[in-house]
Amino acid sequence: ESTTELDISAIEPGQAVKAVFRKQPVFVRNLTPQEIAAADAVPVSSLRDPQSLEERTKEGRSNILVTMGVCTHLGCVPLGAAEGENKGEFGGYFCPCHGSHYDTAGRIRKGPAPTNLLVPEYEFTSDTTILIG
Ligand code: FES
Repeated sequence: ESTTELDISAIEPGQAVKAVFRKQPVFVRNLTPQEIAAADAVPVSSLRDPQSLEERTKEGRSNILVTMGVCTHLGCVPLGAAEGENKGEFGGYFCPCHGSHYDTAGRIRKGPAPTNLLVPEYEFTSDTTILIG
């Protein structure tokens, strides 16, 4: 199947889940107000791949961050989606292969990855359900 439907109702603020989309990992994260504030505090123009959290999320749902779980350097699966994993220096995701640090918006902040974690095509099909693809 080329799409993935996910019930996100059980993802508490500060938690993430890993799912699979087209045989690749995808991360869905419910950001806390603090994580949203941390993302919004960064001047977009200072970023390697300049994008705001709002551009990377859906209107009115900027707490729900959907990204591929594939490092944009050489394709390892970053840590940070599962409980207790290393989220890196910017509190988002950390790729241990060569040390790329992503922030709470999944944007590359340090290390060799050239671009932000990819946001796949998706839509909300209800308040608590998303359809990826
Ligand atoms: Fe992630 Fe190299 S594959 S830092």
